[in-house]
Amino acid sequence: MAIFKFAAGLVGAIGLLKVANAQQFRNEDLILCDCGIGDNPDQPDWSTSRQMNWYQDIVWPSSAYKYPDAPDMAVEIPFKEGWYPWVPSGATATMPNGDVWTAYIEDGTPDGFKAGSAVTTKDSGQILNCWAYRGRPVSAAINKTVNHDAICWSAFVCNRDNYPPPRPEDMGSQTSTLSTSPAAPSTTFFSQPPTTVTSTPSKGGQPVPTSRPHTGQLAVYATVSPRFINWQSTWEAFINNFVWDQTTGNCVGGPIKGQGYTINVECAGVKVDEDTHMTLLLIKALRDVGLKSLWFNQNPVIPGINGTGTNVTAPSWVVMPEAFTVRATDASTRNVVGYLSYSTKYDGFLSGPCSACETARFNSDFFDPIIAAVQGSYPAYNNFTIEAQCSPWMACN
Ligand SMILES: *[C@@H]1O[C@H](CO)[C@@H](O)[C@H](O)[C@H]1NC(C)=O
Ligand SMILES: *[C@@H]1O[C@H](CO)[C@@H](O)[C@H](O)[C@H]1NC(C)=O
Ligand SMILES: *[C@@H]1O[C@H](CO)[C@@H](O)[C@H](O)[C@H]1NC(C)=O
Ligand SMILES: *[C@@H]1O[C@H](CO)[C@@H](O)[C@H](O)[C@H]1NC(C)=O
Repeated sequence: MAIFKFAAGLVGAIGLLKVANAQQFRNEDLILCDCGIGDNPDQPDWSTSRQMNWYQDIVWPSSAYKYPDAPDMAVEIPFKEGWYPWVPSGATATMPNGDVWTAYIEDGTPDGFKAGSAVTTKDSGQILNCWAYRGRPVSAAINKTVNHDAICWSAFVCNRDNYPPPRPEDMGSQTSTLSTSPAAPSTTFFSQPPTTVTSTPSKGGQPVPTSRPHTGQLAVYATVSPRFINWQSTWEAFINNFVWDQTTGNCVGGPIKGQGYTINVECAGVKVDEDTHMTLLLIKALRDVGLKSLWFNQNPVIPGINGTGTNVTAPSWVVMPEAFTVRATDASTRNVVGYLSYSTKYDGFLSGPCSACETARFNSDFFDPIIAAVQGSYPAYNNFTIEAQCSPWMACN
């Protein structure tokens, strides 16, 4: 009888624990870590393993170089086919207690900004905000293959807050250590002129020789601010603010209000031919750069979130440069034929580390969408030069 009572009591206690669980870890943190950085002599910048650390409620030390208490649970993320796990397609791991976590991360997000979400199957589904928060030592590494004393560094921190973890005074800025060159570099890319000159068959079935197009050269120059803002809606909603008048070619939309800032939009452009307008080509260029380039980080989509018992729709946001300009010049006349820009005015004073230009973001994902868009001006132009630069080179407060 006594045994029966004890068993019944135990079942009751487990039931209680389950109910309490849903609320119990309101302050839980999931840290996505890169471990063993510096342990591989061939690739000193690379991590040798990755892991997820879980904390009931982490307390960050006041110095950036001190460790917080050890995690309550941790699990290594296998380096599946050589893919870095903190990416939009998601990384899933099962904690020692059976809780399954999946993190969807936009890995190009600058420090201090929301970079994605972490979802768990426990308690019928929960969703955390993940913040880019790189470079703080957090714990020992589970994987000791390369170095027995390998250290894990924070990469992304997931919690229920609406802001990233605090930055101690002595915490360096990730972005400003990337490049120390004081010179403002520029990156240039020359596109190939379209190689295939299409010929249109005439009614008689004989191809009509295409006249050699006017070989206009269009020089496109873009500037990007190295400081970022958080646009709290979709990229499409942002682009929809570029309302333009077909008669003048000018943008006519008013300023855009964001959380803590106002964005002013400007654009203008000439009519290229009957159905092409330079204004529209530049808006298309910005839209497509925003979809492709690492300068613009959209929140990753959490697949099947409404089919898994979770009823949370992750809100959209975009971490994007605070200012952007693109100018198209006819190289032979030196006339500006198109211009587009947006710039941000802050409601209050800014504080935080400096942001310096990460020139590596001027890559084909940046240039190709611009080239593809301005190629819409063919045959008026068939030779395109795209140049891009940070402006300013480093933004401090
Ligand atoms: C541990 O790290 C080594 C070296 O990076 C790696 O080859 C190995 O696959 C890792 N172990 C696991 C279980 O992922
Ligand atoms: C939710 O499910 C519906 C129907 O399957 C789908 O059309 C919709 O896009 C889903 N929404 C999200 C946020 O996943
Ligand atoms: C799920 O979302 C729908 C639509 O917003 C709402 O009607 C319903 O009450 C929600 N269910 C739960 C369990 O929150
Ligand atoms: C395109 O422009 C570049 C740079 O001015 C020039 O070197 C090149 O010859 C041009 N190509 C053609 C086909 O006109």
